[in-house]
Amino acid sequence: MSAGRTNESASHSGEGIDMNTTATAATAATTPAVKAVQVHKAYGSLHVLKGVDLTVEPGSVTVMLGPSGSGKSTFLRLINQLETLTGGSIEVDGELIGYRHVTKGGRDMLQTLDDREIAAQRAKLGMVFQRFNLFPHMTALENVMEAPIHVKGMAKAQARELALAELERVGLGDRAGHYPAELSGGQQQRVAIARALAMKPDIMLFDEPTSALDPELVGEVLGVMRSLADDGMTMIVVTHEIGFAREVADQIVFMADGVVVEQGGPDIIDNPTEPRFRDFLQHVL
Ligand SMILES: Nc1ncnc2c1ncn2[C@@H]1O[C@H](COP(=O)(O)OP(=O)(O)O)[C@@H](O)[C@H]1O
Ligand SMILES: [Mg+2]
Repeated sequence: MSAGRTNESASHSGEGIDMNTTATAATAATTPAVKAVQVHKAYGSLHVLKGVDLTVEPGSVTVMLGPSGSGKSTFLRLINQLETLTGGSIEVDGELIGYRHVTKGGRDMLQTLDDREIAAQRAKLGMVFQRFNLFPHMTALENVMEAPIHVKGMAKAQARELALAELERVGLGDRAGHYPAELSGGQQQRVAIARALAMKPDIMLFDEPTSALDPELVGEVLGVMRSLADDGMTMIVVTHEIGFAREVADQIVFMADGVVVEQGGPDIIDNPTEPRFRDFLQHVL
């Protein structure tokens, strides 16, 4: 394990390489919100991600599509450091995550960050899952107040004010005193979004946020996500909602078998080039 985590990084450690890439890119002025380079992930002998490259610009929406088992959740979990990389690198806001470069015996090596450093990096990211995982014994308001108080040490009165504002933002200002069991699935997922927003993340990751919902509740959650996008939030969204992808995404990424098969603007949904992407779209549309 530890051998795998202290990788030699000669292939992408040179400052000259990074600067070249930046200088020739069309958007040379901005630091990507997320930059994944040749990301690999294996669970034992199961090679799940096989060299994924992805760049996400600040304020943009990336929608990841792909069949079940293609590695989409694993990729989001790597960005959020719920898993550790087997190979490659990920930068968030221009900062390498999970590791720092150190020079040992004249060689550039990667050293694992400590828990506090990783927690600070993870605080830049908010994540919303298919299952909302709200605390059942806490009201919507208390669920949203929880992390600002216990993770950030925010005063209770301030956390309450913040939580109310975030619940308003997801259209649930009038449900603050309700317990999860008293809310619909769509409302619970909106509380989960408010809970993530209360930590003031730079980037929001959504992993199939509407897949567990009854069809009539999907729209209200997508509506909240759309308004977040309109507000300029940087978002990576794994979803099968093709309409949302077409209307809201700046970038579409189609993954299959641990690789990016096709990537482009939302227009690729209507004009896929790769047969595997075309097949996938025929099944979900
Ligand atoms: N913790 C884990 N241990 C072992 N295998 C895993 C683990 N998490 C995911 N996998 C496997 O990795 C593959 C990709 O899973 P996942 O990233 O969840 O795909 P997707 O989100 O695209 O459906 C699947 O074969 C899955 O079984
Ligand atoms: Mg998944």
